[in-house]
Amino acid sequence: MTFADVITYFQANRTRFADLAWDDPHQLSPAQKRTISASLQAFQCGEGTGGDHLQALADQLDDADYTAATRLFRQEEAGHAAVLGQFIDRQGIPRLQSHWLHTVFGGLGRLLGLGHSVRVMLMAKVVATMYYRALYTATFSGLLQQLCRRIVLDEEMHLVYYCLAIRQFSPRRNWLSAWLWKQVYRILMVGAALVVYLSCRRALRAGGYGLGRFCAALATEYARVEQMQRPDAPLVMRGGPTQAPASPTGPQGAWQWPGSSLRVAR
Ligand SMILES: [Fe+2]
Repeated sequence: MTFADVITYFQANRTRFADLAWDDPHQLSPAQKRTISASLQAFQCGEGTGGDHLQALADQLDDADYTAATRLFRQEEAGHAAVLGQFIDRQGIPRLQSHWLHTVFGGLGRLLGLGHSVRVMLMAKVVATMYYRALYTATFSGLLQQLCRRIVLDEEMHLVYYCLAIRQFSPRRNWLSAWLWKQVYRILMVGAALVVYLSCRRALRAGGYGLGRFCAALATEYARVEQMQRPDAPLVMRGGPTQAPASPTGPQGAWQWPGSSLRVAR
């Protein structure tokens, strides 16, 4: 897996929102709106936060593939903000211009170099993926479920993209320094998990995630992405077809293709 593979994947993934059921007449009930509005507003306005800083750092590196992959990654994030924005517009939920959660994450990322910055963004991504999984089961909106499925599948590749960047661009450290930093990141992850749970607990609970289950699921997921940061570990994207299609529809060399068989974890 290289950034050239990531580019190929992103390019083939451009039409993923083409068949969304925008004609779905379902309107969220007042109770459902009360449950998800605040968190959905926050995640909609946060999609892509910090991407410009990441791009600026990428542009400083002499790696054309990483720079191009980062540009396409940001386009995918902008796509998430756009479709979620369209959804909340249709439901009469106002959009936010900014949210303190993203100001904190984005601000922290801006203070750091590429290696630390990518790790902070990765933590935000792990939490976001968990949120969209919860949101999938939080309402009866078929369109929102469709959006969550597609976004979760996109985020799978985004996790791989971040882990690949960490593998390639992190400075070499001795084992003690590497261990200490690992503990720092874990503490940050715990802090981020608690803050996000407190601010999004209504939607998370509606999606089946009490605090204990949410923390346990996050711990499992974070352990998985920690493993993927090891230089010799496989980079695994879940949710795609288990086998390559007989006649691939995308450019040759793509690592895996978005499939319709995504099973949203509960
Ligand atoms: Fe996203």
